[in-house]
Amino acid sequence: MTYFDQVNEAAAYLRGKLGGLAPRVGMVLGSGLGDVAEVVTETIVVPYAEIPHFPHSTVEGHSGRLVAGRLGGAAVAVMQGRVHFYEGYAPRQVTFPMRVLGALGIEAVVLTNAAGGIDDSYRIGQLVVITDHINMMGWNPLVGPNEQRFARKAGAGLRFFDMSEAYAKWMRRLAHDAASTEGFELGEGVYLAVSGPSFETPAEIRAFRGMGATLVGMSTVPETIVARHMGIQVLGISCVTNLAAGLSPTPLSHAEVFETGRQVRWRLARLLEQLGPGISTLLEAEP
Ligand code: HPA
Repeated sequence: MTYFDQVNEAAAYLRGKLGGLAPRVGMVLGSGLGDVAEVVTETIVVPYAEIPHFPHSTVEGHSGRLVAGRLGGAAVAVMQGRVHFYEGYAPRQVTFPMRVLGALGIEAVVLTNAAGGIDDSYRIGQLVVITDHINMMGWNPLVGPNEQRFARKAGAGLRFFDMSEAYAKWMRRLAHDAASTEGFELGEGVYLAVSGPSFETPAEIRAFRGMGATLVGMSTVPETIVARHMGIQVLGISCVTNLAAGLSPTPLSHAEVFETGRQVRWRLARLLEQLGPGISTLLEAEP
């Protein structure tokens, strides 16, 4: 069975589970942020382990279920947890869930993650809108034959495609508006992805700062690349769970990352509750 067929089999399985629900907005919840799915109502929960060919996570803090339902009235499909390259998954497996969301009919996706803060202005626990990214993972999920059939709209699915506005401006604006409605401010930043699993050295962080990065993490970029290949619009939101290596007086730990994520998850939940309907409405208005 080809990879394309596997994606479609997984999507068909999910379609069967979802009944009539047809989400146009997808969300992926990162480390320590999975509880945010609790604000989804009328839920249909499908553990990843049940979905044909679906990779499931081994990391604590990633529970591994797809939660479909309504968020502030809009139909959404929320991935509670993701798999990472550092767990030993091949690039195509890392982005398999994103392909399935595309095959399900998602047109816009909100990717969230835990990230180390490189910019001095960031505070721990701050939510930051990703304006652009730098791929330092050493690989690209699209290496290999181009599968044009993954395209979700006309003009997508190309071998070579533009990444100059990978994170949609209209969704970024919407995120800022939603946050101010909820009474807080979002930062903005450039997310640099590394493969992990070791955290960075202080010298690496100094180098990344020089390259223009303000956030560092181990996810999101492969999903963004694959989403853009399909013509899906992307919003990226980082939770600054720790100061990057060399900037923090204490050694970095997954416990710190996970705990900060847990502390800010309600602010993120309120943001996503606003964004669900906001994104859906604007998608409908699109010609
Ligand atoms: N580095 C890489 N990934 C991360 C970090 C970090 O400091 N914090 C959370 N994810």
